[in-house]
Amino acid sequence: MEFKEVVGRRRSIRYFLPWRPVERDKVQTILEAARLASRAGNADFARAIVVERDGLSKADLASLTLPVNAGMIEMAPIHIYWWGDLKAFARDMPSRAAEQVDMGVLNISHGWTHTFINEVAYPQVVQAFSSDAVLSAKVTGCEAGLAISQALLAAVDEGLGTMLCTYPEEPARQVLGVPDSWTSLWVQFVGYPAESWEAGGQRPRPPLGELFHEGKYGQPFRGTEEGAARLRAEKMIQDPAPFSWRKEEVRAVSRMLGLPEE
Ligand SMILES: Cc1cc2nc3c(=O)[nH]c(=O)nc-3n(C[C@H](O)[C@H](O)[C@H](O)COP(=O)(O)O)c2cc1C
Repeated sequence: MEFKEVVGRRRSIRYFLPWRPVERDKVQTILEAARLASRAGNADFARAIVVERDGLSKADLASLTLPVNAGMIEMAPIHIYWWGDLKAFARDMPSRAAEQVDMGVLNISHGWTHTFINEVAYPQVVQAFSSDAVLSAKVTGCEAGLAISQALLAAVDEGLGTMLCTYPEEPARQVLGVPDSWTSLWVQFVGYPAESWEAGGQRPRPPLGELFHEGKYGQPFRGTEEGAARLRAEKMIQDPAPFSWRKEEVRAVSRMLGLPEE
């Protein structure tokens, strides 16, 4: 699928075929997409534990369930519990940056040398971020978010349904046994959609110029009609929700899956 169409087709899928397993190579593709995402200092911020729903005991599944993830957690055959490693930046950046100096990725043309890493980049950026809990959470969440976003798009490209949900940190620590330096982020549910891939249409967003500005705050970014027409033709912008038949679809899918209809 073309990139713009993948972006356009992505939407949170909340109904999965519980009985249809996800092929291992598709899960691998999702993780590869995350692994290859851009990341500050080339550090390993994004971490994940892939869990097969059917491998979880009833008690563990119950302990990971929240009101906001209920339903999906039982339907989706694959759960990817995403975490952020709060130690990643300080631990990984110096050696990863040095390695990139040696391989001609970070170059003297831009001021990068081993001395620059040790005397400027590390103390001024990495240490500054890592020694402050708020800044550390900010950079870790953002870096992992980049990887997770690619994981979502990869799942869509593989013809799967996917979405992110909240999970409870302490029970997940117990069940998954993750290191203390990992902070909980989101669970990505993955499976074959039980609803149509359109899932009732693209979800509402404010117009471009309301979200994004140009030059300074208050000056809306202005796209062009031609630009929007091209994005519609290339399927990045698609028909918006609500579709006229959506409620019928939800009722039918709910009936099939034994979920409440009213
Ligand atoms: C980080 C994150 C956490 C989310 N958590 C939940 C959740 O706990 N439960 C839920 O039903 N949807 C959750 N969602 C889905 C959002 O509600 C959904 O993305 C939003 O309504 C926009 O719809 P779309 O993803 O189809 O564009 C989450 C989405 C993101 C990105």
